[in-house]
Amino acid sequence: ASLRRKLTDNSNITWHPSLSRSERNTLRKQRGFTIWFTGLSASGKSTIATALEQHLLHLGHAAYRLDGDNVRFGLNKDLGFDEKSRNENIRRIAEVAKLFADSSTIAITSFISPYKADRQQARELHAKQQSDDEPLAFIEVFVDLPLEVAEARDPKGLYKKAREGKIPEFTGISAPYEAPENPEIKIQSDKTSVEDAVRQITDYLEKQGLLK
Ligand code: PPS
Repeated sequence: ASLRRKLTDNSNITWHPSLSRSERNTLRKQRGFTIWFTGLSASGKSTIATALEQHLLHLGHAAYRLDGDNVRFGLNKDLGFDEKSRNENIRRIAEVAKLFADSSTIAITSFISPYKADRQQARELHAKQQSDDEPLAFIEVFVDLPLEVAEARDPKGLYKKAREGKIPEFTGISAPYEAPENPEIKIQSDKTSVEDAVRQITDYLEKQGLLK
């Protein structure tokens, strides 16, 4: 217990002031922020997030996508899909996205992130200011697809397995998905092409002055 106390005692750690966020953004000629995708499995969030990342890179912006492939197989490979693990998955992803955004990169996350409270915590983490820094923008993109349509698509056969009881706690079937009420952007992915979805997001970013 005393070792654990020692390891978690932050009282001897001091914060080293560095460049302010706006100074860093000016030098990098880019604002960092986070675009947070949320939606059911097979809703199309990773497809849109990937197309958005490519589009932003082609425009000359530094953008980087965090998704299951680089997070659940690495940093979060110790986590499963029970509620506590998903909370921790999203908490760590929010912290990492914030670091990318703080480095003047456009962080794009595409995770189901089914719990409102977790997404809210991610948002608050970005809104928190350090000293005279400006807060980091956090743009929630809800990829909205009716469960029946996602289940009919079932590209990985996971809904079928979940219905057969072979995957416990599957989002939408045996675990909740809490849809966002006030996302910055909502995309109805059964009625919107990937190109239009990317345009909808970049139009929003431009209007907010985030792509300067
Ligand atoms: S979460 O809820 O945000 O922590 O989930 P995430 O990290 O995005 O991982 C979702 C992908 O994992 C696969 N998978 C499951 N999804 C939901 N529920 C359960 N039980 C589950 N088990 C495995 C699934 O392929 C998800 O991928 P996507 O790309 O969303 O379809």
